[in-house]
Amino acid sequence: MFDQDTLTRFKALETPFYFYDLGLLNQTLQACKTAADKYGFHVHYAMKANFNPRVLAAIQSFGFGADCVSGNEVSAAIANGFKNQQVVFAGVGKSDKEINIALDADIFSFNVESVQELHVINQLAKAKNKIARVAIRINPNVDAHTHHFITTGLDENKFGINSWQLNDVAEALRACSNIQFIGIHFHIGSQITDLTVYKSLCIRINEIQTWFEDHGFQVKVLNTGGGLGVDYQNPDSNPIADFEGYFKVFKEFLNVKPGQEVHFELGRAMVAQSASLISRVLYVKYGQKKNFLILDSGMTELIRPMLYQAYMKIENVSRQAQDSGLKAQDSGFKYDVVGPICESTDCFQKDVSLPESFRGDLFAVRTAGAYGEVMASRYNLRDAVGSVYSE
Ligand code: LLP
Repeated sequence: MFDQDTLTRFKALETPFYFYDLGLLNQTLQACKTAADKYGFHVHYAMKANFNPRVLAAIQSFGFGADCVSGNEVSAAIANGFKNQQVVFAGVGKSDKEINIALDADIFSFNVESVQELHVINQLAKAKNKIARVAIRINPNVDAHTHHFITTGLDENKFGINSWQLNDVAEALRACSNIQFIGIHFHIGSQITDLTVYKSLCIRINEIQTWFEDHGFQVKVLNTGGGLGVDYQNPDSNPIADFEGYFKVFKEFLNVKPGQEVHFELGRAMVAQSASLISRVLYVKYGQKKNFLILDSGMTELIRPMLYQAYMKIENVSRQAQDSGLKAQDSGFKYDVVGPICESTDCFQKDVSLPESFRGDLFAVRTAGAYGEVMASRYNLRDAVGSVYSE
């Protein structure tokens, strides 16, 4: 939770804003780096999770690469100090403009998601007299056991190339003279907490790399994607994701050949716990069936609860500080915690047990560092949400 100085600081500030705990961010990044280094694994940070410049500066300083999903992310990665040769570019719909940005930046690899895209990259590379390095993103049809909105590796998902199209891929790779095949790429989903899912992924990767080798292709890079989940229920007791357990599964089950590189694209696990969305209560409405706490932030600042029915822990930080020791469950007050936006779905959580709350109380929505600030919008022409840092 927040110490007294931080709370005093919050009181003087206009809300809402994202508060970044840069100390925790650095500890998390160190834990990730140490766990990956143990096996010589390479991590590309999935920039889509958070591209706040202070966050990027911290991540870049540890030597991680960047996993991008748009031309602008490629440009931002390089502008924020990531090395060109540590940038990878995925996405089912890369435009010609975006491909050209990445070709000009001489990135490490395109993660290619269709046979048609392979031909387009080849043509654009030829026009620039360049050779584009590519990894083929394969949809392994492995169930990530996560929310269906953030599952990406099943046959019914739009991502990647299905295994029955591999012959077409091989043919295209042979025909494309401005393409250099470097490896295979996978990503099965996000917020994965059941690590056995990754064992199933390893088994599929082993099969698919054998297929490529049997067809005369040298697989230099195995890119397993990202998806490691975090503890949204207990951010204080479990602030750092299980990087050790995660990488260990790949060490045990992935068939890594001499000279091969293993790449990961983690987003959420690297940044989620290091930020909270801080808001104030604008109004309290007591009704016959429901009580509402209306915050000054809503789906425009943080859309995950509304879009994915995602649970994110909500705390009245003013009352917790004041009534330290008070157990929220004992307070007897239940509220629907909602935002100010003109949409019925603009609700963070229903029936939350909280201390009795008042206009002006400060609230924190925890574990908001991933897919929070980046997914904010200006709907209702609201102000862009601000950021505040611990140091
Ligand atoms: N690599 C690829 C190709 C991806 O599509 C993603 C995330 C990642 C890596 C990073 O996954 P992570 O380690 O962060 O789970 N907005 C949703 C999550 C969408 C994830 C999209 N892809 C949410 O708020 O839960």
